[in-house]
Amino acid sequence: MTNSRIPSFYNLTLDQRRLKLAEASGRTPPELAAWTTGGLSPEAADPMIENVIGIHSLPLGIALNFQVNGRDVLVPFAIEEPSVVAGASFMAKLARAGGGFSATTTDPLMIGQIQVIHLVNINEARLKIFEHKAELLAEADTIDPVLKKFGGGARDLEVHLFEESPIGPFLVVHLIYDVRDAMGGNAVNTACEKLAPQIEAITGGKVHLRILSNLADRRLARARCTIPVSELTVGFESFKGETVRDGIIAAYAFAATDPYRAATHNKGIMNGVDAVVIATGNDWRAIEAGAHSYAARSGKYTSLSTWGKDKDGNLVGTLEMPMAVGIVGGATKVHPAAQAAVKLMGVKTASELAEIIVSVGLAQNLAALRALSTEGIQRGHMSLHARQVAIAAGATGDMIEKVAAQMVAEKTVRSDRAEAILESLLK
Ligand code: MEV
Repeated sequence: MTNSRIPSFYNLTLDQRRLKLAEASGRTPPELAAWTTGGLSPEAADPMIENVIGIHSLPLGIALNFQVNGRDVLVPFAIEEPSVVAGASFMAKLARAGGGFSATTTDPLMIGQIQVIHLVNINEARLKIFEHKAELLAEADTIDPVLKKFGGGARDLEVHLFEESPIGPFLVVHLIYDVRDAMGGNAVNTACEKLAPQIEAITGGKVHLRILSNLADRRLARARCTIPVSELTVGFESFKGETVRDGIIAAYAFAATDPYRAATHNKGIMNGVDAVVIATGNDWRAIEAGAHSYAARSGKYTSLSTWGKDKDGNLVGTLEMPMAVGIVGGATKVHPAAQAAVKLMGVKTASELAEIIVSVGLAQNLAALRALSTEGIQRGHMSLHARQVAIAAGATGDMIEKVAAQMVAEKTVRSDRAEAILESLLK
């Protein structure tokens, strides 16, 4: 059983944090050792992509305090941006006081698209496809016996008609495929390619593109949290809880109505989502594409989350978004650090991973809205940013903290100032 509350984790040394992490997660230090080196050697990276010459690292931090569906979970974040891990951990602590995050997923259904062009009559072609639905699904089912064994496979066919386009009318078959614990890209693409000759024979048209859709709106993850108003003043004692709550709701209203704000609001959600997606070796471009296209599904780009209050006045947040992540196959399987991430979280299915990620997204969103609607994000952001500026200016050891602290006190976090402070401290 994991305990995600580790007091003063921040103040420990790297080695002490690693030991505490193993202890709190019930894992052995060797199981989590991949992170001490980044996990991937250049030799292991070589077969993964083309023209490999080395590896590229990111900091790996642990978000604390998360409780998802009643279970404590320690969440690995791979991210270069300061404040994200701290923000998520703090908000998870507030959410804990309201019972943590409740999260659910739909079945892991991916959509494959098969574009059919050069049709004489798209309505006739549509109905012919439905007449052959059973045999098409049976054929699509044969492409991955392992997936089939674990309960996955072809589930349904839909036909979308596009009457007007630059090339005239065409139709698109949607193959709905249950990919279980895989991200599913390979299975879906293979199935779409396999169906192409049959679809051409049935419709008399020509199959053009055969590829999955990243608008994975049949594979959604949803999270909800309730924050007692009293918790909203923690760390912000000069504010009334109701004021913070109403400020967060007004900030949400801004994102719900204005695409310029919604883009930044959703970027804040993705700060957390991507960090876990990357840590687990998943395809973050696919998750980004899914998130933003889902946010625009009504025709107007809007917020992925909602914030309001319940009958007792507590703050209630929800987040719903596509979440095409896997725990088998791809980089998740071959990257030792991704394996450590899956082990640390103790997830047994892709759905469980998706539930954690969507909860993290909601926590991250709350961290941003709470700061923005009270003191602004720069104070918290600046103290962490100042450390990076100090390091870039040449500070090492305890000089990093000293230079950073002085810049924050002066409210001037700039490289020229860091260099000047460092010079005077070293004299
Ligand atoms: C910065 O990485 C993310 C925020 O801009 C998100 C937001 O504005 O909601 C703080």
